[in-house]
Amino acid sequence: MTGWVRVVGLGAGKDEWLTPEAHRVLHDATDIIGYFPYVNAVAATATATRHASDNGVEVDRAAQALHMAAEGSRVAVVSGGDAGVFGMASALFEAVENGEPAWRELDIGVIAGVSAMLAAAARIGAPLGHDFCVMSLSDYLKPWPVIETRLRKASEGDFVLAIYNPASKTRTEQLQSALELLRNMRGKDTIVMLAHSIGRAEERVVITTLGECNPADVTMKTLLIIGSSMTRRIERAGKDAFVYTPRYYKEAL
Ligand SMILES: C[S@@+](CC[C@H](N)C(=O)[O-])C[C@H]1O[C@@H](n2cnc3c(N)ncnc32)[C@H](O)[C@@H]1O
Repeated sequence: MTGWVRVVGLGAGKDEWLTPEAHRVLHDATDIIGYFPYVNAVAATATATRHASDNGVEVDRAAQALHMAAEGSRVAVVSGGDAGVFGMASALFEAVENGEPAWRELDIGVIAGVSAMLAAAARIGAPLGHDFCVMSLSDYLKPWPVIETRLRKASEGDFVLAIYNPASKTRTEQLQSALELLRNMRGKDTIVMLAHSIGRAEERVVITTLGECNPADVTMKTLLIIGSSMTRRIERAGKDAFVYTPRYYKEAL
């Protein structure tokens, strides 16, 4: 039997964000591999053998998937949101590039998913409607000075900024430094959106400003969107405001 590996984005929250293509692959797979919350999130109708592992072993997990596919298994490697956005797809290609030469010949594919920034933006209005940048604030795999430089350059360019991994239980200082840098460069009135656990029961969206944003309200389940100078709110009596960034831009920066 010919094996394959598919890196499957499960969508950022609710089941409806799992694409039909992802659903089909999960049901065709003989094995499902991934971080345990994602493996557990796959519907019980998928009968594949499940191999759940902990955080931080992404390349080992990828190598396990490649070994199994080389032996004929049909392996779905699952990832939250979109697998290519701070997810398992890059880990798999790191393993392919540095691993056994035969792995390059395997049938490997990536199945797109609804990433947190898209799900959050849709909830809020259209904050990503004009040019935007996407960053992870985690300094686990990249040095903090690189993050600072990128925050500064994105601010110089007046990009809307979607920030993944803004904080964790042990990593809180980075967010404080980032907010201070952004406040200094973009101004206190810049719109900030905190999208917590989008698509899950505990979903919560907070629209605030850089001046008023409370870092204590940001967790590892938050996606942060920082507006550009053009991003604006549409207030509605008795209803949540919409936030959007218009398609046009002022004449010069
Ligand atoms: C390792 S990244 C994975 C991103 C994922 N691959 C994606 O495309 O959404 C984890 C970060 O994504 C963001 N995130 C993932 N799911 C989310 C959700 N449902 N609501 C808000 N943020 C989410 C958070 O910033 C979290 O710290």
